[in-house]
Parts: sequence; structure tokens; C-alpha cells
Amino acid sequence: MKPSHTKALVLLLFTAFSFNLSAQSPRQTILFNAGWKFNKGDAAGADQFTFNDAGWRALTLPHDWSIEGPFDQQWASSTAYLPAGIGWYRKTFDSPVGIAGKNVSIYFDGVNNNSEVWINNHYLGKRPYGFIPFEYDINKFLNKTGKNVIAVKVDHTQFADSRWYTGSGIYRNVYLVATNPVHVDKWGVSFRADHVTAKSADVTVGVNVLNQSAKAANVIVKAILHSSKNEIVASAQQTVRAGTDGKADGNLTFKVINPALWSVDHPELYSLEVALYVNGAKVDDLSQHVGIRSALFDKDKGFFLNGKSMKLKGVCVHDDAGALGVAVPPVVWERRIALLKETGVNSLRLSHNPHADYLYDLCDKMGILVMDEAFDEWELGKNKWIAGWNQGTPGKDGYHEYFKDWAERDLADMVNRDKNHASIIMWSIGNEIDYPNDPYTHEVLNTGNNPQIYGKGYTAGHPPASELTRIATKLVAVVKANDLSRPVTAALAGVVMSNEVGYPDVLDIVGYNYQEFRYPDDHKKWPNRVIYGSENGMDGKAWDAVANDASISAQYLWTGIDYMGEAHSWPARSSGSGLLDLAGFKKPEFFYRQALWSDKPMVYIGTNEVPRRAGKENHNAEPTWNYADGKQVRVSCFTNCDEAELFLNGKSLGKKAKAEAVAHILTWDVAWQTGELSVKGYNKGIAVASNKLTTAGAPVAIKILNDAYTNKDGLLQITAVVVDKDGNIVYGADNEITVNPDNATILGLESADLSSHEDYKAAKRKVYHGKLLAYIQPKAGKVAVTFSAVGLKPTVLER
Ligand code: GAL
Repeated sequence: MKPSHTKALVLLLFTAFSFNLSAQSPRQTILFNAGWKFNKGDAAGADQFTFNDAGWRALTLPHDWSIEGPFDQQWASSTAYLPAGIGWYRKTFDSPVGIAGKNVSIYFDGVNNNSEVWINNHYLGKRPYGFIPFEYDINKFLNKTGKNVIAVKVDHTQFADSRWYTGSGIYRNVYLVATNPVHVDKWGVSFRADHVTAKSADVTVGVNVLNQSAKAANVIVKAILHSSKNEIVASAQQTVRAGTDGKADGNLTFKVINPALWSVDHPELYSLEVALYVNGAKVDDLSQHVGIRSALFDKDKGFFLNGKSMKLKGVCVHDDAGALGVAVPPVVWERRIALLKETGVNSLRLSHNPHADYLYDLCDKMGILVMDEAFDEWELGKNKWIAGWNQGTPGKDGYHEYFKDWAERDLADMVNRDKNHASIIMWSIGNEIDYPNDPYTHEVLNTGNNPQIYGKGYTAGHPPASELTRIATKLVAVVKANDLSRPVTAALAGVVMSNEVGYPDVLDIVGYNYQEFRYPDDHKKWPNRVIYGSENGMDGKAWDAVANDASISAQYLWTGIDYMGEAHSWPARSSGSGLLDLAGFKKPEFFYRQALWSDKPMVYIGTNEVPRRAGKENHNAEPTWNYADGKQVRVSCFTNCDEAELFLNGKSLGKKAKAEAVAHILTWDVAWQTGELSVKGYNKGIAVASNKLTTAGAPVAIKILNDAYTNKDGLLQITAVVVDKDGNIVYGADNEITVNPDNATILGLESADLSSHEDYKAAKRKVYHGKLLAYIQPKAGKVAVTFSAVGLKPTVLER
């Protein structure tokens, strides 16, 4: 949830950096992203009003300076071998017209990290955690008739303070919020629906009123629920007295008859308007989307949404989007979520920190259930790999240094910002805090009870695992003090150890990471425990453990999308664990999952050389039919159809039934010959899906693949591919493409090659597997983007 969703427009006027507040609306939420100056490196005196920033770079937020590189081995594998350091931002602006009598605050949705903010020489404060929103009241310091300067110092000197890439800078939106002295407090609306059925729902709306005027006020608080067709569905009002002490709480209730229930397939949203009146005048008015749904975890029967049983087909995701770093425009996530939905995904675990505000809005809108997660470490630091994953000496920098002072506030702020999202079904207080010996330990690790992930047993000198329970108890209480409508969970790595100290018992529902083998026994041993998979591998068995056990509601794959950092070692600088790659292109793993999770008939074939030894189940069947003559090729087929039939140059190589699949994969070993390899999927004997691979010739041209996002309003996400003379994508191509935008700018080029050290902001990049994604920001008017490469016929996208 943004600081407040004004019913009136979010103003986007930045001409000469002055703006008008609209006379009609008592509240203004102004996107404050344009017109900033940036300096990479420390700058003495930059907090001062009179500091001369004329030589600084002008930019529009959100901004992540780490992604501008360069990649260098002197940095850390955990954070993608990218630099961090210190950066400064300044914005000079005229006071908004119409500001007289208003209260003004500045709201940051996230700055990574250790930000400090000044306005007109006054220090406003600092915020260490990089993933959490914060707001400063700037009313006292704002020059309402002349120029103002906001200065922000970002100190990300600890470049290896995370196990994955986090970026650096003001990488999320900034808003200026102007209200009347009597107004709804920050995140001061809470919406809750109880006793939800198709016939009715009991709604409670809490409203925190803040009176910043010198006079006590009788405030009428109104809550109005509008349908998606903008009809008034229900409303309530109440009068509260907001004294000069400042605060008063409204508590309004109403019934909604025949509610349009929010669900994954029909994400019905209402608009909740809250308005305040003093002496007959409207003094505040804000609205936000809400959904009516019930969500329940049952220890024996799994998860129920609106009373209907369903499995949570989840994936974990981090914040970054490759070339864009962590400054990701919403439409990029919209595309990614739409693609994940195609594979059957219905839930996201927002690992391992609160994400950008708009992502929750998208999940509400697109029908995605969300696990919102606060932390990856608590009072003590985890290993941060520098020279490569599990190599050399790890660093220990990180959030744990701030945990004691800030965790309760950070956690409460996450819950309060996000609590009205219909999509969120659980709060996670931490990921793998109980990873054995990293750092907590226990004697039980000496018993034969531990799988290999525990490495060595009890390690003297490490802190005792009992600490987990002590800290978790406090964190659970913080969540409950702010929201009682959702279960509190955590993702456990060391269940055996945690069981010894009672950590799972303080959670409402218990996430097991990679421990499917424990489900049946633990269900018997702890019959009252709700168990689900909070992080899981891609293997078929891990899903079977969910599909075949009614009590297990969920699986969250590691991960939905490849992400920057947590790299094995140079030259690799990213993790390739996703269903989608860094560009959002579908990987073979995507199709494997689609066969397991999607109901829509599908069939996929991919190939590899026949392995010399029988190995682990292979999901990486590549979409290529280019081999040497006579080579034995293994064709792997992923399908949800009853049967699949393979054809080589039109000749059937036989039908196989899904029942013959091993680990959900059908295979054929075929002697390669040039031409076309194709497959048909059959249900009840009728062909319902097909897929084919064609031998590609030499690269001759560049082609643009048009999809729903190529030409959308706003940011263009253009897929360019290298093709042969017949238009087939050349899977092995690595031509360097130059992108030349006319009346547009390049935000980044992404090939999805996890080891490429090319400059992400350059106008050229090599394709990977024949493909490249260009993020192009159009200016107003006609736009043309030319894609060219030496020896290839160029192409132009115009709009
Ligand atoms: C898990 C951890 C994730 C990620 C993953 C890599 O144990 O929770 O954050 O590190 O391993 O495989």
C-alpha cells in the first residue's frame, strides 16, 4: 500500500520542479521521482542547502547505481560482483502551490541502505534496512514560499551485506504527501473481512485519525465500499474526538451481502474510501483497493481459499530484474507474473524481505497469493560469500548489526504498509534463521538424525539454538499486535534442531525448506502443526510430496526467476535457479513445471546429447535440433496430456503414455538427422497440443517477437531474436546487437547470460541462445527502435 491512495490523481507534474496542489482534494500524494541530482561517492557538505550540485548527474528515480557496474572480481559473489559504496541524491524544488495550511511529509518506499535524509539543512533521520518504507514529517522545515533542498545520503559501503543482489540507492518510489492538519495517519486504515461466505461478509474498518492542529476536533469518520463498477456497496460512519493529544481511532463495521469474492481466478477488488469531516467540511479522503476472501490453513486438510481446497503452487522471487537492477518498473513485474501464471503459479514468496509497494497491488490485481517475508537474519549474521558460493572466507556484514534496534519497527512497518492486500495470506518473520551452525547450533546435530545439509554436528562456540525461540516469540508478538487476520510463519532449514528448542511451536504455520521427507513422520509426531513447503527444489518428487499428501498445502520453488548474486563463482555472477531467466524468457524448467502445475493441455520437447551415465532427472532439455550427423540425442518431453507422440521429419517415432514417464519425463533416444522434430500431445486419443524443433541454419537477420508487452503503453519490453533464412531462431547464436532508439531511451539490455560482464547500460549486447530483451522507455510521440548487428539484416520497431 502506498502512503495513501488518494482518490484524486497522483500528480505527475514536474515542469521546472514546481507543482500545484489540486484545490478539490484534501489530500495529495505526489510521486516525487523526477528532478533529482546524483553523485556516486561521498560529498562533504552535500547535506547543506547551499551546496553546489551543478556538476552532479540529473536523473529520475527509481535508481540503482550498482547495476551500472562494472562487474569486478574485487566485489562479492553474493551481490553479483557489483560495486556499492556511498551515493548522494539531492532535489531542489519550489514549494507546491496551495501548500499553505497543509501538513507535508516525504515518503520513501525503500532506499538501500543506511539512508540519512536532510531538508533545508535539518536532519530528518536515518533508516538502516534497505527494504522498508519510511516517512518524515517535513512540515516544520519546508519553505512554503521559496526553494527547498532535500538531500539523501545512502551508505552501502558494506558491499557484501546480503546473500543476494540488493542494489544501491533510492531504488523505489518517493512521494510527497500533503494533508490537512486533521487527517488519517500513515497506513492508518485497516480493512478486515470476517465470516466470509458467498452470501455475506462482516467487514471492520479501523481508522487512525491524527490531529496535528492546536484545537481538539470532533471528527466524523466515514467508510464507503465501492464495487468494481463504482457502485456503493456498503458504508458506515462514526464520530470520534481527536484531542490536542493528536490521536483517535475509528472502528467501523458493516455487512457486505453477496460479496464478490477475491480469488486466484477472479481477483475481484473493491475500492474502500475513507473520508474525514470536521464541522461539515471534508478534511481527508483516501481510497484503496481491498478484497473480500477467506484464507485458512488446516493441519490435516491443507489450504482453503473461500472454503475451497487448493494447493499453493508457489515460487520464491528476489527483487531484481537483471539489467534493471532493483529499480524495476511495475510493468516488468506484470509481465513476469503473467508468465509465471502461465506455468500454473498461483503464489509468490517475496524472499526474503518486503518488496516494492506496487508488487502487492499487482498481486491483488492478478490473483496471486503472497507470503510477505521480513528477514533473512536476526541478531547474528549469516555467511555472505565473497570469493564464490561456499568458497574462501565468508563475510558477516549485514542487517544483524541493526536488528536489536530496528527489527521490531521494521517488522511492524512491513505489516502496516501491507496489511490491506487481499493477496497476502501469511507473514514470515524469517528465512532459515535456523540454518544449522550458520550460526545457531545444538547437540542434536550430533545424532544420526541429520541430513547432509547440516554438515558438521554441534559446533562449540556457536550460539545456542534456544535463542531462536526467544527472538521468534518477540517477533510473532509484533506481528500480532498489528494484524491478527493472518498466520505468522517462518521458513525453517533445521527442523530437527528447531524442534529441540520449541521454535516451531511459537509459529502459527511452519514452513519446511527442502525437507519433504519429513512431512509424513512430522505430521504424526506433531498432529497439531500446520506443515507446508516454504522453499523447495525443482525435482518431481518434491512436488509429489505435496500432491499426494492432503495435509501439505504448498510448495515454493527456489526460484520463479533467475536473480542476480548468490553466484557460484566468477565468471558466474547470478543464480540460474529460475523457471524464467533474467530476461523473463521461459527456460526448459518452466515447461517441466507447466506439465506438473497447469491444467491447460501442453507438450514440450527439448534435447541433449545422450548422457554417458544415467544421472539425476534432467529438466534442462534445450529447445534445439542442431547436432552432428548420426549423433545420439536424448529427447525429453514434458506434458500434462495422457499421451505424447514424437515425429522426426513427419515419421512417427512412437507414442508414449504419461504413465511411462520417469520423474514426470518421457524420453526417446534418437539418431539425429536434419529437419524437424515434433511432438503431439493427446487426451482421450485426440491431439490437443503440439510443439516442434527445427534445425536452424546460419544467422541472417534480426527479428522482433511481438508479444503483449512489446508495444504496451509506457515501457517497451522488446524481444529481439537472431534467425536463419527461414525465420527459425538460431539457438547457438551469440551475435552482438546494437540497439538504436529514436525518441526513446534504453533502460537496459538483458540477454540472460548469467556470466556476461558486458555493461548493462550500453547500447549493445550479445544475444544468448539467440535472444535479447530490450527495455526501452519511449518519449511522447513517434518512436523507432532499430536493432542491428554486423552481417545480419536489421529490423526496426516503430510505434
Ligand atoms: C536456501 C536459501 C535461499 C537460497 C537457496 C540457494 O537455503 O533459503 O535464500 O540461498 O538456499 O539454493
